[in-house]
Amino acid sequence: MGSHVHTPISERHSEKPVFSAEKMVEVQRVINEYPEGKSKSALIRILHIAEESFGGWLSIETMDYVAEILKIEPIEVYEVATFYTMFNVQPVGNYVFEVCRTGPCMLVGSDQLIDYIGNKLDIKVGETTKDGMFTLKTAECLGACGYGPMLQCGKKYHEHLNPEKVDKLIDAYRSGNTNIEI
Ligand code: FES
Repeated sequence: MGSHVHTPISERHSEKPVFSAEKMVEVQRVINEYPEGKSKSALIRILHIAEESFGGWLSIETMDYVAEILKIEPIEVYEVATFYTMFNVQPVGNYVFEVCRTGPCMLVGSDQLIDYIGNKLDIKVGETTKDGMFTLKTAECLGACGYGPMLQCGKKYHEHLNPEKVDKLIDAYRSGNTNIEI
């Protein structure tokens, strides 16, 4: 179990984002994979790096910074960032639960799962807990249709969920155990 440092949303700064030297190397490596003048093709990958680097969400300042790096117009970044639900354009909690609510998952109880998580965390879809720990979102098919109801948190999938498993999952994340297998 790793130690867990929790930064309240109010203390997360979004002004003047600058990639660390290490991240900048990664960003440049991604850009270099595309032909000269086609840096926009790297946009989605760079936005993922930006989200990871700047508190899990994309502020206007962050999107402007990405536009500057890719030498494209800010509006081109806003369009992509707001189109894909996987990107957060509002501050989010340390852990973002994205519950699939597409047909196959809905048939096995995704709506009830969403209600259960919302009631347990005392938030609605799209909201973040007061302690800044969890955000609840819904998502379209996450490609695990035979394993529903399910949710994604970061890079992990949690499948065949029920209230008991959700309780365990939330307790684990609260204590910083993000490796829990459910
Ligand atoms: S329908 Fe939920 S993962 Fe595909």
